[in-house]
Amino acid sequence: MKIRLVKESWESVGCDALIMPVFEDEAEGDDLLVALDEKLGGLINELRSTQEWTSKAEQISVIYRPEKLKTARLILLGAGKKEDYDPHLIRSLVIAAVHKVKGDNLKTVAFYGRSQVESKRASRAAVEGLILATYEADDYKTKDKSKSSVEEILFVSNENLDVDEVETSMQRGEILANATNMARKLVNEPGNRVNPSRLAQAASEVAAKCGLEIEVWGEPELEDKGMGSILAVARGSDEPARFVILKHFGAPDSEDKPIVLVGKGVTFDSGGLSLKPAQSMEEMKGDKAGACAVLAAMQAIALLGVKKNVVGLIPAVENLPSGRAQRPGDVIRAMNGTTIEVINTDAEGRLILADALSYGQQLEAEFIVDIATLTGAVVVALGKLRAGIFCNNEELFERVSRASDQSGEKLWRLPLDDEYRKEIESSIADIKNVGNRWGGAITAAKFLQEFVGDVPWCHIDIAGVDLFKGEGSIKGPTGFGVRTLVEIVDQFE
Ligand code: BES
Ligand code: ZN
Ligand code: ZN
Repeated sequence: MKIRLVKESWESVGCDALIMPVFEDEAEGDDLLVALDEKLGGLINELRSTQEWTSKAEQISVIYRPEKLKTARLILLGAGKKEDYDPHLIRSLVIAAVHKVKGDNLKTVAFYGRSQVESKRASRAAVEGLILATYEADDYKTKDKSKSSVEEILFVSNENLDVDEVETSMQRGEILANATNMARKLVNEPGNRVNPSRLAQAASEVAAKCGLEIEVWGEPELEDKGMGSILAVARGSDEPARFVILKHFGAPDSEDKPIVLVGKGVTFDSGGLSLKPAQSMEEMKGDKAGACAVLAAMQAIALLGVKKNVVGLIPAVENLPSGRAQRPGDVIRAMNGTTIEVINTDAEGRLILADALSYGQQLEAEFIVDIATLTGAVVVALGKLRAGIFCNNEELFERVSRASDQSGEKLWRLPLDDEYRKEIESSIADIKNVGNRWGGAITAAKFLQEFVGDVPWCHIDIAGVDLFKGEGSIKGPTGFGVRTLVEIVDQFE
């Protein structure tokens, strides 16, 4: 993809589509409206006065072959009220605009930057939106496949701006959006295509392409390390577990402790012997979304050349019932020596994370962030807009909040009070893997907390936000978390 900043007037930009944001509260005599009207023979005034197009957010009108302009299409993009215009709105408006002209053979798409948001942030959001909009969850369609034709993205501005700064920001947007789309593609892979070994293979391919170091452990190494909790979950499947360690040495000479990112990689979650009902199983290929987010974030971190040491950990298993599967009531032993009574084999995510977090703690991490499609309870609590976060350290919480402000991926903090811990006390082992019915996302987080000790740690439960069945403009995997993880590691202004 070619990405360029074009410092000229929108009137003279030659492209296949020019996206022109127009505000609802743009006054009649405003320069832009006057200029647009002049170029379009009074059309804007007419559309607005007849209320055919009122510039409300996401109201889109496409003008083909405007005679006096060099673009083949002018996409009039309703941008809502000026005061609500921000980079996150730009990103989602651009996605809506590109979807509107889906199927048109667009090669060069331009976005006109309005002065309401500074060019650095607006250009990046527009690039992200344009690339995110090209994702299609149709890898396995043999007919009617839509292939994105976009080859070049232009950000048009005639403001006084720092070209290098804006171009760097646009490149960052490109890297982040490509990584997000990579995660979405991988999450979308069905269980018969991507099992733990294939997930590890995908990680190896990413590592080779972008210069990450990688180690992939199989069951012998997991036995050696005493990762009994991962092994117990994997027992039911014929597919062996894998543990993937990705390393980015961005500060090889520094004594700094590494930042550790951990992602739940259950390539299919049937529930195991505590079998899920059919309907709840339908989307369980998506139970590796945390792992995919970590892999994609590591890719972006490498490509951005972030000057920090970062380790990505992916415990990968398939959770199936069989004659070898772990049973409800079994007692297993995690890497840090904690014994766990497995009450419900469907609470498998926390079991594989237990060993991965213990390993992260052993690496003497500066801090650990884990991301997982962990509980149905978080979806009950927060619906499908915000992911739940849990954090044992205020400074890290601030850092994660700033990252979420940058990425636009919404989070909501849930509590970790000690009183909740008694829900996971077991009468026969150190802890059990489920609490009672209530506050299920919290008891899951309390369980994870047992494996991080005093290391600053944040847990992100993305069970409600990883997949959409077609609500709004997104269908399929969202890639939630990729951009936030990168911003957590590499704070960018
Ligand atoms: N993978 C699921 C959580 C999930 C639910 C993800 C819905 C995406 C959408 C997890 O492994 C699970 O099954 N959790 C159980 C825990 C329960 C047995 C305590 C749940 O939430 O029902
Ligand atoms: Zn489960
Ligand atoms: Zn699961």
